[in-house]
Amino acid sequence: MAEKQIKSRKRVADHGEVFTGEREVNAMLDLVKDESERIDSRFLEPACGTGNFVAAILQRKLNTVHTKYGQSHSDYERYSILAISSVYGIDILEDNVEECRKRLYDIWNIAYTRYCRADADDECRKAAEYIIERNILCGDALTMLRNDGTPIIFSQWDFAVGNKIKRRDYRLDELMRDDFTGPEMTLDLYAGQDGYEYDEDVQAWVPGPVKEYPLVDYREVQYAELSRCL
Ligand SMILES: C[S@@+](CC[C@H](N)C(=O)[O-])C[C@H]1O[C@@H](n2cnc3c(N)ncnc32)[C@H](O)[C@@H]1O
Repeated sequence: MAEKQIKSRKRVADHGEVFTGEREVNAMLDLVKDESERIDSRFLEPACGTGNFVAAILQRKLNTVHTKYGQSHSDYERYSILAISSVYGIDILEDNVEECRKRLYDIWNIAYTRYCRADADDECRKAAEYIIERNILCGDALTMLRNDGTPIIFSQWDFAVGNKIKRRDYRLDELMRDDFTGPEMTLDLYAGQDGYEYDEDVQAWVPGPVKEYPLVDYREVQYAELSRCL
């Protein structure tokens, strides 16, 4: 069946909404094949639509989880959550965001239920749903504001010891500032300044989180908002 690439001519005119076909998505992801298959590589799709790219990335990551950890239900569960937590998207249209979130959840849940069988549990499903809701946001990727005018804030999820996960929230506009991303990036311009932290991955001082949460079991991330923030 032919893939539907537009929803309406008005949406094409208003928002440039033309969806990418599966073949093109996979050809593009093959350009970064290793990263697209690595379980913890972080991807942000700033105009994610209904999720053609992020869904394909999640599927690739889950294939890796199955290959590496398919023998153990607990490992499969933990690493499949890691896969989900590293995929981010923004779209300006609410219905696209809803569709994208549901699509990612269904991909994860079908695989989780198939591989973990009787060990699959609803608390983990709620955690996965919550992480997807936090990672796929409705907003304007150009102004980096939500539709209600507040800044787009993404959560970074890091597995710490055992099954504990650390959530840190960052403002997208701060992470995307030119002086961090441009060729003239000055590595020690912000060294030691309040609100900045050294990031080993990019080897630079970057804005710190706007909020940090206590370590929690990854199956309980959905309740962290209710507990005290650090
Ligand atoms: C060309 S479509 C691509 C959708 C998807 N990435 C794909 O390849 O199938 C562009 C998408 O960007 C969204 N969009 C347009 N302007 C945007 C903006 N300023 N911020 C975020 N999303 C935007 C549209 O709603 C649409 O879903």
